[in-house]
Parts: sequence; structure tokens; C-alpha cells
Amino acid sequence: MIINKQEFYVTGLNYTVRSAINKDAADLSELRLQIDGETENLDREQGEAFIDASGFEQIIQTDTVKPRNLFLVAVVGDQIVGFSRCEGVYLNRFAHKVEFGVCVCKEFWGYGMGKNLLKASIDWADSNDIQKMSLNVLETNDKAIALYKQLGFEIEGILKKDKILSDGKYHNTVMMGRFNE
Ligand SMILES: CC(C)(COP(=O)(O)OP(=O)(O)OC[C@H]1O[C@@H](n2cnc3c(N)ncnc32)[C@H](O)[C@@H]1OP(=O)(O)O)[C@@H](O)C(=O)NCCC(=O)NCCS
Repeated sequence: MIINKQEFYVTGLNYTVRSAINKDAADLSELRLQIDGETENLDREQGEAFIDASGFEQIIQTDTVKPRNLFLVAVVGDQIVGFSRCEGVYLNRFAHKVEFGVCVCKEFWGYGMGKNLLKASIDWADSNDIQKMSLNVLETNDKAIALYKQLGFEIEGILKKDKILSDGKYHNTVMMGRFNE
């Protein structure tokens, strides 16, 4: 689905949150690769599971037409600097929920983009009869967990030793959910 564009001004920076469109595909491919190299809080090491521009075109097309998908981008000037997705599972038994994911490039952390992408996604979900938003987050990702709790997510469980990171240690994943009640 698509939502209306929203404008923000935070700590001296203007940016927009809007639905992704076809011509964003190449930029999104590059940005995803960049962010994967900036953090260990996502699933991939840089270059793993690479999605090229045509892959993103397909995702954007799907997310535009499917009723339980939403693909948002955060844009500074004409540069995409963050994005989020809600993805539904199209089986009737999962028709009430979506999976959420978000990332912002490091240079633009702390400007409320993560929060505003999530807020826009929650508003969309709540007004489209989506009962549950789910997400997985690394247990050490305090900032993201604080953000999710602040916007109504609760911890549902822990996946122990879910990932192995560059420190050579195993790390737990926290499963969180937000219920539209
Ligand atoms: C997590 C991420 C999306 C947050 O985006 P962001 O734009 O930097 O965050 P925001 O500026 O919107 O801050 C949102 C909230 O984070 C929390 N937060 C921010 N900085 C924090 C800090 N240093 N310590 C603890 N909490 C912090 C606060 O709750 C803040 O809300 P507030 O502004 O009301 O205080 C971003 O850092 C990111 O992309 N990280 C790498 C990928 C990632 O971790 N994705 C999530 C995987 S589940």
C-alpha cells in the first residue's frame, strides 16, 4: 500500500517520509549495502544476500499493491537515507499481522527517522485492521529496543544464541510484538 508523504524538521534537518516508488530501486540497493556495512544489528554481513535494483523494483511493486505490505523511505533533499518495511504473510491464519524492519544510515542516526518511520507504519497498521506487528531485534540493540517499547511493543520471547557476531560470541535475539487493542 502507499501512504501520504510526511515532512519533518528535527534538530536542524528537514526530511520526508514517503512510500517507496519504482525509481528509488537503485538507491535502495546501494543504501542497503552501505548500512549492512555500518552495523551488526541487521542480519547480513556487507554483501550477503545482495538485492540489486531490479530486485528492489519487484519488492516496491509488491509492497505497493499488497494490502498488508508497506515500504517507506526517509529522504533528505533527494537522497534516501533510511527505509522500513512491513511485510504480511498471505496465509489466512496470519492475515492479522505484519513483520516490521527498519534501518537508517549511520550519518543520520538520532534525527528521529527510525521513530518517524515506525510511527507512520503503526498509524498505517492501526488504520488497516492489522492486529499485530512483529519484529526481531538483537538483545544488545538497546536503542532500537527502547524505541520499540516507547511505541508500544512488548517483549514476547528470547531466541538464545541466535546469532554469532564478529566478537566470536553468540548473541540472543528478542522477539517483540505490538497489539492493536
Ligand atoms: C535503530 C535505528 C533504526 C534508530 O533510528 P534513529 O533514526 O537513529 O533513531 P531515532 O532518532 O528515531 O531515535 C528513536 C529512539 O531511539 C531511542 N534512542 C536514541 N538514541 C538512544 C541512545 N543513545 N540510547 C538509548 N536509546 C536511544 C530513543 O527511544 C529515541 O526516542 P526519543 O527521540 O524519543 O528519545 C537506527 O539506529 C538504525 O538503523 N540502526 C541500525 C539498524 C538497526 O538496528 N535496525 C533495527 C533492527 S531491529
